[in-house]
Amino acid sequence: MKFKRAKRNIFFLFLMLVLFLLQRSLLAQTSSCIACHMEMEDELRQPVEDFEKDIHKQVGLGCEDCHGGNPNEEDMDLAKDKTFKGKPERDQNLELCASCHSNVTYMKGFNPSLRVDQLAIYWTSKHGQLLKKGDKKVAVCSDCHGVHGIQTSSHPKSWTFPWNIPKTCGRCHSDKEFMKRYKIPTSQEADYRGSVHAQALFEKKDLSAPVCNDCHGNHGAVPPEITSIAQVCSQCHPSAGDLFSESPHKKAYDDMGISECEACHGNHRILSPSDEMLGTGERAVCIQCHEEDSNAYRVAAQMKQKLQDLAEKIQKADALLSSAYNQGVEVSEPRYRLREAGTLLLMIRNLTHSFSLESIEEKIEEGEMVVSEVTVEGEAALREAKLRKKGLVIATFFVFILAIGIFLKIRQLSKKSHSS
Ligand code: HEC
Ligand code: HEC
Ligand code: HEC
Ligand code: HEC
Ligand code: HEC
Ligand code: HEC
Ligand code: HEC
Ligand code: HEC
Ligand code: HEC
Repeated sequence: MKFKRAKRNIFFLFLMLVLFLLQRSLLAQTSSCIACHMEMEDELRQPVEDFEKDIHKQVGLGCEDCHGGNPNEEDMDLAKDKTFKGKPERDQNLELCASCHSNVTYMKGFNPSLRVDQLAIYWTSKHGQLLKKGDKKVAVCSDCHGVHGIQTSSHPKSWTFPWNIPKTCGRCHSDKEFMKRYKIPTSQEADYRGSVHAQALFEKKDLSAPVCNDCHGNHGAVPPEITSIAQVCSQCHPSAGDLFSESPHKKAYDDMGISECEACHGNHRILSPSDEMLGTGERAVCIQCHEEDSNAYRVAAQMKQKLQDLAEKIQKADALLSSAYNQGVEVSEPRYRLREAGTLLLMIRNLTHSFSLESIEEKIEEGEMVVSEVTVEGEAALREAKLRKKGLVIATFFVFILAIGIFLKIRQLSKKSHSS
């Protein structure tokens, strides 16, 4: 009997233990911070909702990893123990974020390929330099990444995903009121949005087109130095960059402190270039610096002339082929050849960055050769079309005569059968 009761007591004790452990583990899973803040409103609840999609949650971190406190205590006073840090001030979040992100050993445990130099680089940026001097309006980690909904930059909803970057930077840089105290323009975002780069990014969904951070750096945001702009642009336009570096402009621009590509293309509102930029016309960039009786002026004019001549010849040849095609002659072969001339034209436009007549002349000649061959073929096709037309007229004439002959014969036959 006694033995039975003891057994029952042990059983109850065991059950209590299991229930206790179960409750502990459940509590450990649903952090008390989340459970309680879920019941709150507005800025006390919002962090919980945003945190659902946060990369830090996805890798298993919790509220306490940034705020401290004990997530296993349901009671608010116990949860907010000595380790609780509360809400960090804006300029404190640099140290907070960097406490993990600059810690090589810690980060290696999660993602060995992730860089750990964000804060170090940040201090070299204009933002960092001004913050050191006590200016708290500059961007800190949370201004570019958010706070509770932080995502990796490859996530399309991330504040640092290419499509979202102009807005992230523009939140401050386009705000005239916010930027009033500084003596810099506030048109970068608007100008950028009007550029060929933005068109490639937003309309063609070409993620290789640059946004703000591709030219300014992610964490080191400074305008590219005058001597480094060509390097920024050349990363993606290597051919124009190489040609420029070997051109007479390279040394001249460096000496005068003119910023390379920017001098002709601008920085934020870079437009699709046209032949009008070349030469000595109203919209040509060359006349900004070259006087009418200089050698460079003559070179500019000749380059434009040659380029334009070739472009016109290509257009004419194309019209010839179209006319033959509309008259029913097969011209796909010369059409294909003509495309080659079009490619050469693109190469020549690129070669203009050598700013030398010789370097484009070879390709111009090649292009003209192709065009003249195509023109010969096009004219032959047109002759064929004419010949066919003539043939058709003659054939129609004979068919007509034949038809009249048959008609007369039938009439004669039917008259005969009536009279008999
Ligand atoms: C039982 C409910 C409850 C629990 C559990 C709880 N909180 Fe809170 N928390 C609150 C309330 C209510 C406030 C607002 C009043 C205040 O500031 O004390 C608050 C405020 C905060 C703030 C803003 C403080 C400030 O300085 O503005 C942070 C950050 C915070 N909680 C984080 C946490 C974290 C992290 C945990 C878990 C370790 C946690 N909370 C657990 C109820 C809770
Ligand atoms: C990656 C670090 C990080 C994590 C993780 C994190 N927070 Fe925060 N939290 C911050 C920072 C930084 C601020 C200050 C925000 C600011 O500067 O506006 C903040 C602010 C807050 C505030 C104050 C909001 C306000 O507008 O006054 C609350 C409440 C809060 N956090 C709760 C939470 C809760 C609950 C969790 C877990 C679901 C959590 N936080 C997870 C970094 C974090
Ligand atoms: C407790 C440590 C810790 C703190 C504090 C912290 N992070 Fe993180 N963060 C991580 C870990 C771990 C990852 C996940 C790395 C991975 O797996 O790719 C991460 C990921 C990120 C990523 C995505 C990186 C990627 O993969 O592209 C960004 C952005 C980020 N954190 C920004 C911040 C910002 C901003 C703050 C401050 C508001 C902050 N972090 C605070 C530990 C931390
Ligand atoms: C001026 C805006 C800005 C500020 C301020 C900023 N970041 Fe970033 N951060 C970015 C951009 C843009 C990227 C990269 C986007 C990409 O990879 O295309 C990035 C990337 C990251 C990454 C992914 C790894 C990497 O380096 O590419 C981490 C982690 C990160 N930032 C953490 C931080 C931390 C920590 C701070 C504060 C010390 C901070 N960031 C401040 C804009 C910023
Ligand atoms: C929180 C607001 C804020 C955000 C967000 C922000 N900036 Fe800034 N930025 C500033 C302020 C303020 C200055 C100081 C103006 C000055 O240089 O006098 C500054 C300065 C700069 C400068 C130096 C300008 C100069 O010639 O002095 C560059 C470049 C820059 N930011 C680029 C960026 C880029 C790129 C982003 C986005 C990835 C960005 N900023 C996001 C506020 C911000
Ligand atoms: C294609 C490269 C490129 C892109 C993209 C770009 N910038 Fe710039 N940015 C430059 C260059 C080059 C300068 C230097 C201007 C100078 O010193 O003459 C500059 C200058 C600046 C300045 C200093 C003030 C000024 O206007 O001269 C700020 C601020 C700035 N950029 C912010 C931005 C922001 C914000 C974006 C995105 C909306 C952006 N930039 C996109 C190349 C770029
Ligand atoms: C991150 C890569 C990248 C950087 C940096 C970059 N570009 Fe571009 N650029 C592109 C892409 C992509 C296109 C769009 C090509 C297309 O769709 O036709 C483009 C287009 C252009 C065009 C128009 C070409 C055409 O045929 O219509 C010009 C001009 C140009 N960029 C000049 C510049 C200058 C000047 C700089 C430096 C201030 C620069 N780019 C920096 C990638 C870049
Ligand atoms: C002295 C003025 C000038 C400078 C400096 C200059 N460009 Fe150009 N760029 C032009 C002209 C003119 C055209 C248009 C040629 C045409 O269409 O006939 C052009 C066309 C382009 C094109 C489109 C054609 C092509 O090459 O595919 C790109 C891209 C380009 N430039 C990039 C650059 C880059 C990158 C730099 C700096 C390394 C640079 N440019 C420097 C005048 C200049
Ligand atoms: C920002 C000013 C600037 C612009 C714009 C500019 N150049 Fe120049 N260019 C110079 C300078 C400076 C030199 C070196 C001094 C000189 O010979 O005049 C030079 C030299 C040259 C030379 C070599 C001159 C010689 O006698 O050997 C040629 C050719 C030339 N440029 C063609 C052009 C063409 C074509 C354009 C338009 C697409 C152009 N430049 C636009 C400033 C400019």
